[in-house]
Amino acid sequence: MFARSGVWALLSAACAAAAIAWCARGGVAAGPPHVEASSQIAAGRYVVQSAGCNDCHTPGWAVSNGTLPESAWLTGSSVGSRGPWGTAYPPNLRLFAHALPVTAWVQLFRTSNGPGPMPWWNFSHGKMSDRDLAAIHAFIRHLGPAGTAAPIDLPPNVEPSTAYTWAVPPAGRH
Ligand code: HEC
Repeated sequence: MFARSGVWALLSAACAAAAIAWCARGGVAAGPPHVEASSQIAAGRYVVQSAGCNDCHTPGWAVSNGTLPESAWLTGSSVGSRGPWGTAYPPNLRLFAHALPVTAWVQLFRTSNGPGPMPWWNFSHGKMSDRDLAAIHAFIRHLGPAGTAAPIDLPPNVEPSTAYTWAVPPAGRH
């Protein structure tokens, strides 16, 4: 009887130890999902790449098949995205993140809304964890400021002098 309960006690202690080790390895993540990486900058690089920030904020990204060097990443685009909002240009995030403290960056992502060409709906209001948002900020700052500011956004009635794509064509246009 004693021997039996002793075995159980040992077994459960071993299980608890195994569970703690598993938790410590990240088997059970505390809080909202987030990326695990060897550093915050590596996490930021991963999120930027997989969340598709380069698709819009890096000129020539699609044509390069995603092979542009990091030095060219997120420098903003002068190809407008036209829709009911007018024409919006993906800003230069290398300059933007350099100027904005991380708390304001995270706050911007927590609260911003569409509709518009920037797909906030994928990232804001807790869809992307604060930890990953801060990692993006750290990674962009690590790249350093580069490039020039994107053109100023235009209201709907103004014809852009730059190239642009219709995100939402007006009625009767294809
Ligand atoms: C589908 C294209 C697209 C994708 C993908 C995209 N953006 Fe944007 N982003 C834009 C456009 C266009 C604007 C400008 C919106 C405007 O002017 O109304 C913008 C605006 C922003 C702003 C606001 C800057 C300001 O002046 O307030 C930040 C910050 C930003 N994007 C970061 C990101 C990050 C980080 C990612 C990836 C997680 C990302 N964007 C993905 C198109 C995109």
